[in-house]
Amino acid sequence: MNSSIIDGKAVSLSVKESVRERIAALAREGKRVPCLAVIIVGDNPASRSYVRGKVKAAEFTGMDSRLIELPGDVSESSLLEVIAGLNEDAAVDGILVQLPLPRHIDEQKVIDSIAVEKDVDGFHPENVARLWLGRPCAIPCTPKGIIRLIDSTGVSIEGSRAVVVGRSNIVGKPVAKLLLDRNATVTMAHSRSRDLAALCREADILVVATGRPGMVTADMVKPGAVVIDVGINRTADGRLTGDVDFEGASQVAGWITPVPGGVGPMTIAMLMENTLEARLAKG
Ligand code: GUN
Repeated sequence: MNSSIIDGKAVSLSVKESVRERIAALAREGKRVPCLAVIIVGDNPASRSYVRGKVKAAEFTGMDSRLIELPGDVSESSLLEVIAGLNEDAAVDGILVQLPLPRHIDEQKVIDSIAVEKDVDGFHPENVARLWLGRPCAIPCTPKGIIRLIDSTGVSIEGSRAVVVGRSNIVGKPVAKLLLDRNATVTMAHSRSRDLAALCREADILVVATGRPGMVTADMVKPGAVVIDVGINRTADGRLTGDVDFEGASQVAGWITPVPGGVGPMTIAMLMENTLEARLAKG
């Protein structure tokens, strides 16, 4: 069997178009359009590329953006001052600090310093608590995008067996909670799980976010399953590859995301949506 490819570019475009229409409507009413502030520290090439994508998407949707580029040796206190300024600035709706940060900066301290209502990543502990308590919150962009991609297939999440491989704060843990909220029966698996292959084979929905290229192979996929590959790994020859062996798994799965062009574009689209929602929450 050959699986259908889940087109993350197409789904993300339709999300961005919808955000663009809602922003145009705000502007027609004479209201302020949303503004996203993106902070990047240092010159990590992957981070620079992601940040460029975020600013470009903001332009596409018609929202304002501010790119704040700080040198790699900026002090933690200077970064915290910049964030404090953005927290106070009524014209800024969303603040995103691109991760990872240089080692001399305490990432948790930085995330904690972002005003909860401007935390469009959904990384602030208050937002994380709200997510797990089932209260209104900013939902982390990648997990939110993953749910949209699953929904785009028409496969029902309700009652399904979902297996999430990887337990990061950014992807694994929140996507498991979102699947649980949609009434899936969720298993959180990881590199230490005993007989990972057998666990994965039970999954109607398999989400893989381990950061290990080729971690999931065809024999680990249930025939017809929805496979979401969150991995973005660079090969020795400079190509991007996921955590799933796409060639093999796509012979078995019902639906599968490619890398690139699957989850990646959705993360950015959801950031646009979260920023618009942060703006709308202000009235
Ligand atoms: N680095 C990798 N993914 C992300 C993300 O979703 N948000 C931020 N701020 N940094 C990241």
